[in-house]
Amino acid sequence: MILMNDIVREGHPVLRKVAEEVSFPLTDDEKKLCEEILQYIINSQDDVLCELYDLRPGIGLAAPQVNVSKRIFALHIEEEDKEPLSIVAINPKIISHSVEKTYLTSGEGCLSVDRDVEGFVPRYSRITIKAFDVDGKEFKLRLKGLPAIAFQHELDHLNGVMFYDHIDPKEPFKEIPGAVPFERE
Ligand code: NI
Repeated sequence: MILMNDIVREGHPVLRKVAEEVSFPLTDDEKKLCEEILQYIINSQDDVLCELYDLRPGIGLAAPQVNVSKRIFALHIEEEDKEPLSIVAINPKIISHSVEKTYLTSGEGCLSVDRDVEGFVPRYSRITIKAFDVDGKEFKLRLKGLPAIAFQHELDHLNGVMFYDHIDPKEPFKEIPGAVPFERE
């Protein structure tokens, strides 16, 4: 199982690499990786397991964050009164997006970043994505709100981009034209 010690932190070169496309069928190692990154996220949202294994809670984890430079990430998001989202996305792509932008009012965090970085991170409000699942089956989803923001955060990891690259260091809370703020419950 993946623990915090397995997660690489900012400064590690793998976080700045463009990750490689994955081919199917997956190798046994790739299958195991998919299971483990999703399991980490699920476990990290359980108070008991969090305490027991010293996990930091998260909603997404990308393969480069465990030092595997491949285009794979996992998301697990449960919000009140909303359909939960729990996916492993392989070779994910955004196929269309809204003009409207959004940002988390509380800013973003990352399991590879051990400090608070304040500021607004502009994201598309709504995206249509496609990706492959572990069986090599393509799927499409329309996402908005937190799932859309998290998907864009994780996709950035596959391109060597960190969330704070989007923050203006001189004016971290600069208004983003046309953006609708998103408040996390
Ligand atoms: Ni991250």
